[in-house]
Amino acid sequence: MTETSPIATAQILRTLHIVTWGCQMNVYDSARMADVLRPLGYRAVDTPDADMVILNTCHIRERASEKLFSELGRLRAVKDARGGAMTIAVAGCVAQAEGAEILARAPYVDVVVGSQAYHRLPALIAEVEAKRRAVVDTDFPAEQKFDHLPAQQASQGPIAFLAIQEGCDKFCTFCVVPYTRGAEQSRPAAAILAEAKRLVAGGAREIALLGQNVNAWHGDGLDGRTWPLARLLAELADIPGLARLRYTTSHPRDMDAALIAAHHDNPKLMPFLHLPVQSGSDAILQAMNRRHGVDLFRRIVADLRAARPDIALSSDFIVGFPGETDADFAATMHLVRETGFALAYSFKYSPRPGTPAAESPDQVPESLKNSRLQELQAVLREQQHDFNRAQIGRRFDVLFTGPGRHPGQMAGRSPYLQPVIVNTASLVPGTIHPVTIASANPNSLMATLNQEQIAA
Ligand code: 5AD
Ligand code: SF4
Repeated sequence: MTETSPIATAQILRTLHIVTWGCQMNVYDSARMADVLRPLGYRAVDTPDADMVILNTCHIRERASEKLFSELGRLRAVKDARGGAMTIAVAGCVAQAEGAEILARAPYVDVVVGSQAYHRLPALIAEVEAKRRAVVDTDFPAEQKFDHLPAQQASQGPIAFLAIQEGCDKFCTFCVVPYTRGAEQSRPAAAILAEAKRLVAGGAREIALLGQNVNAWHGDGLDGRTWPLARLLAELADIPGLARLRYTTSHPRDMDAALIAAHHDNPKLMPFLHLPVQSGSDAILQAMNRRHGVDLFRRIVADLRAARPDIALSSDFIVGFPGETDADFAATMHLVRETGFALAYSFKYSPRPGTPAAESPDQVPESLKNSRLQELQAVLREQQHDFNRAQIGRRFDVLFTGPGRHPGQMAGRSPYLQPVIVNTASLVPGTIHPVTIASANPNSLMATLNQEQIAA
């Protein structure tokens, strides 16, 4: 029997505005926070002039806390204009990392809730209302938050995200995730499959499984054994109506043989993989505590291409990690040239307080970081454009998601994740149609619909 809390039955209509920074997991978390607040009468609005405003923060990028405090400054003015009738909550990884310091600097904040505790938001809000004082919850509760949230209510549309794993035990020396998201946790397969079926019933044709270390997923299977990700993907592929599966973000160490084989065997698994390598130098990978060398990455790429020759690869790179020499950087450039990426994200190393690399005496000067980043990004941009140009004349299925930017257009996604635009306005979102690629832009493809149509 489900417990009904008194606040969960309140039906006063209230407005909720959520600002989301950072990764896809944060976007997912924001949607789930809206779900958890819906029974309290909260309805999402687009402006910050709302009864409740949640800032869902990200700690990965530089100046995360300055960005937060400047946004809070703006919100304070709105709260004052409403005579104080606004609940301000700070959620996500900056909340997790800075906790009570946020209240010290911005006393008009009412709730600070860490990334593992937002299923407790209703109780925290009740506490604020009852005691008229701010609350902080940055615990890592023993219970898994995903299993204490209501079922996803809002349809995500044809492409949906589903968190299956959270946290990380790897402790790369540059990264805050093990501190802000906590230890690695895998949701049970039964809960994931039930959520996937609900998403499909709500119109999803493609599901992207999310996790900071998604391919480390090892959850309880339906047979009582621990399953690897490949097994979960096989089970998800059996859901009628679901056409496409993806998963992100993966770690090279967890790319097991079964998962690589799934890229050959699982017909719904899309030919795209985001596999961050960070650097092409073994010395730097070791200093990063990545627990893999360049050779392992090369072997995975070769095996993936053997399993699925057309697979598109994506990655993350950090330049200017402490101690990175010209030779280390040249090794990264070499790895990029030899691999060929369809897409990649690259960053200047930025010290995160509390992480080991931030203490290193060998910090790389900013000017050198800048020039290395420019050199790397020029090649990555070129590779992305080359990949897109190589699609011209190819025929493949596109999942259409909605209108394009210009009237009379529809936009969708290729199997390789690029946006694809057709000059046809009459397609139903959520349908899949074969197209032929006519031309390529750096970030998207133009296509024409083929005559024969597959069953949608
Ligand atoms: N400095 C620069 N880039 C970072 N990333 C994570 N932490 C840092 C940092 N301190 C990058 C990594 C990771 C991506 C999500 O962000 O490349 O894969
Ligand atoms: Fe961060 Fe990924 Fe390393 Fe975990 S594996 S510490 S999330 S970079």
